[in-house]
Amino acid sequence: MKNIAVLISGGGSNLQSIIDAIESREIKGKISVVISNKENAYGLERARKHNIKAVFLNDEREIINELKKNEVDLIVLAGFLKILSSEFTNSFENKIINIHPSLIPSFCGKGFYGLKVHQAAIDYGVKVSGATVHFVDENADTGAIIAQDTVEVYPEDSAEDLQKKVLEIEHKILKKVVKDFCDDKIRKKDRVVFIDK
Ligand code: GAR
Repeated sequence: MKNIAVLISGGGSNLQSIIDAIESREIKGKISVVISNKENAYGLERARKHNIKAVFLNDEREIINELKKNEVDLIVLAGFLKILSSEFTNSFENKIINIHPSLIPSFCGKGFYGLKVHQAAIDYGVKVSGATVHFVDENADTGAIIAQDTVEVYPEDSAEDLQKKVLEIEHKILKKVVKDFCDDKIRKKDRVVFIDK
């Protein structure tokens, strides 16, 4: 069974979707630790409610140590709004995944997080947006794409409306990718990802 760490900065609804899928045995894995770089992130409470170790750590070295101590196989960035150094990403190559609330390579990279992503998509006038799960490399949002799904964008949508629609599909694709990772179904050739049936 894979050891999973989930890194968060906020509410943790994506974390919750993983917790639920583990509890319903859809995902064959175990969350060893939840780490937040924000002390009052609600996601820490969500973890504790399910008896999952939850810690506040903002120092990258301390985060790396905690992850190594727990011998994690998979690190899920689920609304973790701190950019990782190349020392961090190189220490866990092909083991870190991130969920981003747009169709990468649009509306991503440094400064694109949370509502800002959705406001940018609306201001640009796109008719579809979506969510992406990707491997994390040394640059922001540039790693190989594992899964994407789309939602329609209407001219009258607010950033909050779009965020709500996208969040629903985030929970689905993130859960599926974590499941596939735990089932050893994900392979990568250069930057193209294959998922075994
Ligand atoms: C999610 O929409 C996630 O995609 C986004 O933060 C939100 C966290 O929500 N991440 C980014 O913008 C990363 N660039 P949650 O705490 O409810 O899971």
